[in-house]
Amino acid sequence: MSQFCLCTNVVLVLCWISGNVFSQHSLSGFRKYECFVHVICYHKIVSLLSGSTSRTQSTTLRHKVIHRLQDGSIPFNRNWTEYKKGFGFLSQEFWIGNDKLSFITNQNTYELRIDVTSVGDLSFFVTYSKFRISDEYGEYKLTSVGEYSGPEVCEERNNVLQCYCNEGYIGDGVNCTIDTPPSDCKDIYDRVSTESGVYTIKPTIWQGDPFDVYCNMSDGGGWTVFQRRVNGSQDFFLYWSDYKVGFGTPDHELWLGNDRLHSLTSQGNNQLRIDFVNKFGDPYYATYSSFSISDESDNYRLSVGGYSGTSGDRLIQSNNGQAFTTRDRDNDHHSVVNCASYYYWNCEGFHYPVNGAWWYDGCGATFLNSPYTSGTFSWKDLPGSYCFIKFTEMKVRRV
Ligand SMILES: *[C@@H]1O[C@H](CO)[C@@H](O)[C@H](O)[C@H]1NC(C)=O
Ligand SMILES: *[C@@H]1O[C@H](CO)[C@@H](O)[C@H](O)[C@H]1NC(C)=O
Ligand SMILES: *[C@@H]1O[C@H](CO)[C@@H](O)[C@H](O)[C@H]1NC(C)=O
Ligand SMILES: *[C@@H]1O[C@H](CO)[C@@H](O)[C@H](O)[C@H]1NC(C)=O
Repeated sequence: MSQFCLCTNVVLVLCWISGNVFSQHSLSGFRKYECFVHVICYHKIVSLLSGSTSRTQSTTLRHKVIHRLQDGSIPFNRNWTEYKKGFGFLSQEFWIGNDKLSFITNQNTYELRIDVTSVGDLSFFVTYSKFRISDEYGEYKLTSVGEYSGPEVCEERNNVLQCYCNEGYIGDGVNCTIDTPPSDCKDIYDRVSTESGVYTIKPTIWQGDPFDVYCNMSDGGGWTVFQRRVNGSQDFFLYWSDYKVGFGTPDHELWLGNDRLHSLTSQGNNQLRIDFVNKFGDPYYATYSSFSISDESDNYRLSVGGYSGTSGDRLIQSNNGQAFTTRDRDNDHHSVVNCASYYYWNCEGFHYPVNGAWWYDGCGATFLNSPYTSGTFSWKDLPGSYCFIKFTEMKVRRV
């Protein structure tokens, strides 16, 4: 057990002291190895008891939660009887009760797993392979903990005795955090690399596998690209299910996918940046200080605000608050047509198909997913000429 506990606040804890009798302790300041569990300095603790002897890493479902401490809403400074019976609320903070715990742990061999989030938001868990306490006559004595397994291991390697992070963790051996994939390009920029390119991310609420995105590290870095038009090689006249999961390639033409975009914009406050190259090759841009889209149950509704830039704003004026519309899902407010599959006059006065999914209200004046070669691939107000755009790139950054 090597973890240092750096306590920044006074935390009341309970623990089985190495002397083995269950007792309570109020601690403050720096403590090291005080309890057999060294999680005394953290503000969020969930103790889980597994009904199995095997060391599975993520079987939360197979663990019973016996204790949770997360926000100080429930006092833990209690007497013997209360600890015997248990207290608190299962959905919030609680202690399950020593009688129950003793009963449970004497039925079988149980693993103890303790999930911890530290004050600095480091997350990790530790496990003990055989956890058992005696009954009240034995003063709930901790009779077994088995083998400790945690984020770090302290051992001699090449004649140096020090702590190392175990597999699946990153850090210096003293602080080891679960090696989770970066949550977005901002996280990549802060933790991994400041070079533009394709990286694998997993937004915090994303339930699926990690996925690849293009991170544009210019303009302060950390931009996750979710739309790009370059030369028309990718068909954008696609269906709801295509826009939902995304299509194209991260480093060329793409729509990242509305589910992914929702998960990205749910992680905090976000900025949106759109870069344009107009038909004469001149660059323009729009930035928005706030941007998010809702989930599928609300049709990926757009929220955007705070324009600045050189391209002129159309999103706030024409699309803010609108649901997403595709050729097969008409959520726009046009009383007759589906704006995603429709004809429109382009900047040169020709009648062209719009054919692109977007957050339409009426059909409006932003068509950034329209066919590349049609004059309706356009952004009204774009200086020079508003249609026959050569390049667009839409990207989001958490702030
Ligand atoms: C323990 O605390 C409970 C609740 O405050 C109280 O009712 C009980 O009398 C206390 N028992 C002892 C032995 O102090
Ligand atoms: C461990 O992490 C904490 C919180 O992030 C930090 O305050 C502390 O300095 C770190 N300790 C070491 C030895 O890196
Ligand atoms: C990255 O973003 C900048 C604007 O910040 C833009 O000019 C450039 O085209 C983008 N680069 C790539 C490779 O997408
Ligand atoms: C578009 O660019 C890609 C990558 O450079 C290229 O493979 C493709 O042939 C181009 N398509 C068209 C229609 O120009």
